[in-house]
Amino acid sequence: MKQVNDFIITRMTRYNDMYSRLTLAPADGSMLPAILPGQFVQVAANTPGVFLRRPISINDVNYDQNTIDLLIRKAGKGTSTLVALKEGDKLNILLPLGNGFSLDVASGSRLLLIGGGVGVAPLLYLGRKLKEAGHKPEFLLGARSATDLLELDDFAAIGTVHVSTEDGSMGEHGLVTRHSALEGNIDTIYCCGPAPMMKAVASIARERAINCEVSLENMMACGLGACLCCVENTVKGNVCVCTEGPVFNINLLNWQ
Ligand SMILES: Cc1cc2nc3c(=O)[nH]c(=O)nc-3n(C[C@H](O)[C@H](O)[C@H](O)COP(=O)(O)OP(=O)(O)OC[C@H]3O[C@@H](n4cnc5c(N)ncnc54)[C@H](O)[C@@H]3O)c2cc1C
Ligand code: FES
Repeated sequence: MKQVNDFIITRMTRYNDMYSRLTLAPADGSMLPAILPGQFVQVAANTPGVFLRRPISINDVNYDQNTIDLLIRKAGKGTSTLVALKEGDKLNILLPLGNGFSLDVASGSRLLLIGGGVGVAPLLYLGRKLKEAGHKPEFLLGARSATDLLELDDFAAIGTVHVSTEDGSMGEHGLVTRHSALEGNIDTIYCCGPAPMMKAVASIARERAINCEVSLENMMACGLGACLCCVENTVKGNVCVCTEGPVFNINLLNWQ
């Protein structure tokens, strides 16, 4: 069930100048709706000149504390405002939006969750849900540099973490698509990150017949299927990423 609600920032974790993690609770004390890993929110940035809400993945959910977490990278005016907020500030949020990742995987499957940059955000809650279901998720997290690798302790509390950086400052040197964690049998890949990275991962998955889901970050305005600005051409025709995605099995995408 979708909700529009004011949320209060109960914890603000500022990782560096570019990234913050916001922990938020409904300001009126109401209970969070059921949230699937891979779903996202539309946040009102509340700043002059930013009229549209901004789509942000749900990074984590804590039903005991009744909180959600958002991991935000400064990109433009809206996200610059969001990363600079402080505890006690309020944000108006529409949630939960879109469809999540598939969780129905056979027991004993090797599951690799591949994230690039701030695309790691939805993989934390996904990994948590997979672990709760009895699986052993492995994370392969890539970034330009060590300072762009976030929440490593949180990921490590859930499963094995493999890391690569383009400048070699942490983990294996190079792109995630060259990481040794991709060797050996893999049953399912879940992926979120920049489009070229996801396309390269999809191509590896297709070549090796690995089941693969990717979370697209097309530009969005309404987040509700009304404005059509997020359309992706798929084997089923043009579909709105905000309502039919953002998670798609690669077999549905016209990516070659
Ligand atoms: C489903 C979804 C989930 C997302 N999850 C996260 C997340 O967890 N954390 C996070 O930091 N960001 C996430 N993004 C990207 C985030 O929405 C954009 O960075 C944000 O909308 C930019 O707004 P702005 O006002 O800061 O920048 P603007 O001034 O609007 O734009 C600044 C730059 O960001 C680019 N941009 C604008 N909108 C998007 C977009 N939708 N996707 C990618 N680039 C965009 C523009 O092309 C421009 O180069 C997600 C996007 C989608 C669609
Ligand atoms: S963002 Fe408006 S239709 Fe998807």
